[in-house]
Amino acid sequence: MSVSEGTAAEQARFQAMIDAEQRVEPRDWMPEKYRRSLVRQISQHAHSEVVGMLPEGNWVTRAPSLRRKVALLAKIQDEGGHGLYLYSAAETLGVSRADLVDQLLDGSAKYSSIFNYPTLTWADIGVIGWLVDGAAIVNQVALCRCSYGPYARAMELICKEESFHQRQGYELVMALAQGTPEQIRMAQDAVNRWWWPTLMMFGPSDKTSPNSAQSMAWKIKRRSNDDLRQHFIDMTVPQANYLGLTMPDPDLTFNEETGQYDFGEPDWDELRRVVSGNGPCNRERMAAKRKAHAEGAWVREAATAHAEKQRRRREAA
Ligand code: 3HC
Repeated sequence: MSVSEGTAAEQARFQAMIDAEQRVEPRDWMPEKYRRSLVRQISQHAHSEVVGMLPEGNWVTRAPSLRRKVALLAKIQDEGGHGLYLYSAAETLGVSRADLVDQLLDGSAKYSSIFNYPTLTWADIGVIGWLVDGAAIVNQVALCRCSYGPYARAMELICKEESFHQRQGYELVMALAQGTPEQIRMAQDAVNRWWWPTLMMFGPSDKTSPNSAQSMAWKIKRRSNDDLRQHFIDMTVPQANYLGLTMPDPDLTFNEETGQYDFGEPDWDELRRVVSGNGPCNRERMAAKRKAHAEGAWVREAATAHAEKQRRRREAA
């Protein structure tokens, strides 16, 4: 594992490898900045997955049927597994999972802003599956072609499960949208609250993104923030139209010339506020994660003691 930016020749060989669409594997030489950018993005992605379990967990005991409860439990369990895949991918870059988790718990690491919003009604659970997981799929399908092998392979695994998440969410919202007037109102209210925060999942606009240009050059990112956001909007608005639901954007109109939807400007000040810890639920999420981590200490200690006993037994054999 390199710990330097290397010589000009090494840099040139590395970029030629990227340009030739060769996957970078943990054993390959890589510029320290490439490694650090991957640790940054993969660890934040992992944190997002595990923090994302919290807003949905809020509704497990209140799911309206056993079928809905089972689907929600399965989804939440999947998200935890996605976090583990991604922490494992980050560990191939020479960082420890314990350190990454400490960075989440001390507030120095980011996770997706979307999980700092409250889940106020049952409709939120459907809209999260439909919109939030739908946006995650758009982003993650592109990451399946990431230049770093372990991250791309984790994405391939995750995308298969995300498609179930999105479908069960859309089906849940469809049931509400075809239900009583009160259920329709609940579904529309959830769409009104989750639409703009979902668009912010794709990151700031390309003109203000500090990481995108380099991430695209290294083929960590294959499509830009704005390109993925547009793709998501173009895919999702017709789904809402089919359900008879509307997006809370007066500027959202189909552009016959481009064949895409024109849309309003997200509130970037809101994104900055939420990312810097001042969203509706940031404190609650961090308190829950710190409490769970403290309560899980005995499990980590027991597993470490068991591993140490096994190691001594192997050495003695
Ligand atoms: N929430 C939190 N931070 C955000 C953000 C958001 N919505 N959008 C951007 N940021 C941060 C970036 O991390 C970066 O900060 P950093 O330099 O300290 O890491 C800064 O804002 C500038 O943004 P950039 O666009 O320049 O940064 P990136 O090039 O990293 O692009 C990204 C941002 C598109 C989120 C990219 O990091 C990415 O694709 N990450 C992997 C996917 C991911 O994390 N998705 C989050 C949701 S996971 C999920 O939805 C699970 C599903 O099961 C529900």
